[in-house]
Amino acid sequence: MNLTPINVYINSNLEQKNNSVKDFSLYLCDVLSSIKLLHWYSDEYNFHKILDETYESFDDLFDKLIEEIIGITKKVNNFNLEFPRRDVKKVLDSCSLEEQLKELLGVLESLENTIKNNNMDSFIKQNSFNGINNTIEEILSTSNKCKYLISMIKW
Ligand SMILES: [Fe+2]
Repeated sequence: MNLTPINVYINSNLEQKNNSVKDFSLYLCDVLSSIKLLHWYSDEYNFHKILDETYESFDDLFDKLIEEIIGITKKVNNFNLEFPRRDVKKVLDSCSLEEQLKELLGVLESLENTIKNNNMDSFIKQNSFNGINNTIEEILSTSNKCKYLISMIKW
């Protein structure tokens, strides 16, 4: 008798129930890694520098956001956010500056959609935790600043 399907079912259920904040943490790490890889493999100095600053800002803000969320979910376990997982290695397939820019814009768009998600909104409202709103605004502002600075590069 093969019990594997039952084990898989139980494990995936546990994962869904207990690891949604952990999954979200991994997603944010994917965003950071994607930006760092684009920073390392860009041949355009200004693009390289802007990604460096964006990485630093996101690193601090993601740390703040996740620690706030962990703080809340220790008391109330109602975090249920939908977000895409990114294949970080895909970033390395982008070779030209145009491809790297397209990849970066995809990363930023995915991040913006994820943190502006309705479930995130209801999670914040349900817990009356407005501090997270400020952190989210700062993340959106960093993303907008990054896009603005990149638009000034003379390609
Ligand atoms: Fe660097």
